[in-house]
Amino acid sequence: MSDQMVSRILSCPICEQSFTLYSPKSRTCQLIKRDPDFCPYYQGINPLFYQIWVCPHCSYASYKDHWSDVSSREKSQIELLIKQSTERMRFDFTRSDRNLFAALLSYQLAYRCYTKRRNAGAFLLGNIQLRLAWLCRYGNDLKRERIHLETARIHFQKAYQHDAGKNAASKMAFLIGEIHRRAGNNRDALEWLMQAKKNCDVKGEIYRLANHQLFETQEAIHFMQAFGKVDFLQPLSKDLLSLLATHTQRRRMSQGQIICRQGEAGDSLFIILKGQATVHLNTLNSTPVSTLKEGEFFGEMSLLTGQPRIAHIVAATDGELLEIPKIAFRTVLVATPETAATISQIITERLAENERYPAIVQPEPQASPRSKTGFLKRIMTNYDL
Ligand code: CMP
Repeated sequence: MSDQMVSRILSCPICEQSFTLYSPKSRTCQLIKRDPDFCPYYQGINPLFYQIWVCPHCSYASYKDHWSDVSSREKSQIELLIKQSTERMRFDFTRSDRNLFAALLSYQLAYRCYTKRRNAGAFLLGNIQLRLAWLCRYGNDLKRERIHLETARIHFQKAYQHDAGKNAASKMAFLIGEIHRRAGNNRDALEWLMQAKKNCDVKGEIYRLANHQLFETQEAIHFMQAFGKVDFLQPLSKDLLSLLATHTQRRRMSQGQIICRQGEAGDSLFIILKGQATVHLNTLNSTPVSTLKEGEFFGEMSLLTGQPRIAHIVAATDGELLEIPKIAFRTVLVATPETAATISQIITERLAENERYPAIVQPEPQASPRSKTGFLKRIMTNYDL
């Protein structure tokens, strides 16, 4: 056992066997930040991995506060549940350390046990599902994260209707709104975030967070309208577009401003919201090879292939851009690999168009693939896919 952990001997109220439980010392867990739905990020050990106590003999799982509080009726129901479960042996819970898989399994086991317990209200069940979603987020498993968030939302909504006190109600309304926002249900998100604000103290944390997320949701509505005009984004699901929107920033451009310089590293893609921009090869005052208008995009080549920018982009008018960073694209490419093929096609077409300007020396011709398949390979390598 490492010196970052403490241990204690516990007795299982279901199978009555003893075991050693390990948990991290609090000083080994340093909170760095939280997502808007409170998902925590730690430096060092993540205490979330250890919050569920699991009996390594029978797989009974529970939060510490409810560990021993099991009636004989609950006990027989949990025993039956455990017997039917096929998941018991998938991780050795006698170990002192837990990985992401063990943490996921511990919350799944706890969720099942709690469905048989009288002290498990909809709020508690929703919270377990929310934690399962966070764990999936740590593992970049967007699909399963969405399923757990949706289940959490259904529990929170039930709790909101039946047993919410004033403070709990505003937190629940906030979480329901935030889950809707993450799923791209922006209209529902607006409604619930407003509800959260209505229920709470104007000086409190939830009021501040709800206000902030209301602004983000309104922005996301604009961003998603703009995404709808971009061909290669159109096949993406609402929740993927919503994830892109979360990372997207609005930028102003003024006439004559150089937005990208040929030869520089590029980590963002830009969509034109308002105005126009020109594409110049080699020199800034060369005849533009193309003029990009509202709804068109640029910067996809270096963002996706990892190569330096192949052209200068200059604002031809004042206007507004959306900037989407590389980090947001990885999830998109993992979820929809066909997007890489569509973009490779666009890159090939744009490069072919540039070859119509023979007077202009093309940058790094030998370093660039020429075919759609060549680009596709480069994109996959660049994103470690
Ligand atoms: P990137 O190389 O990242 O940065 C410069 C951008 O110019 C490039 O991505 C393309 O998005 C864009 N570009 C290059 N050639 C053309 C073209 N012929 N038509 C439209 N856009 C282009």
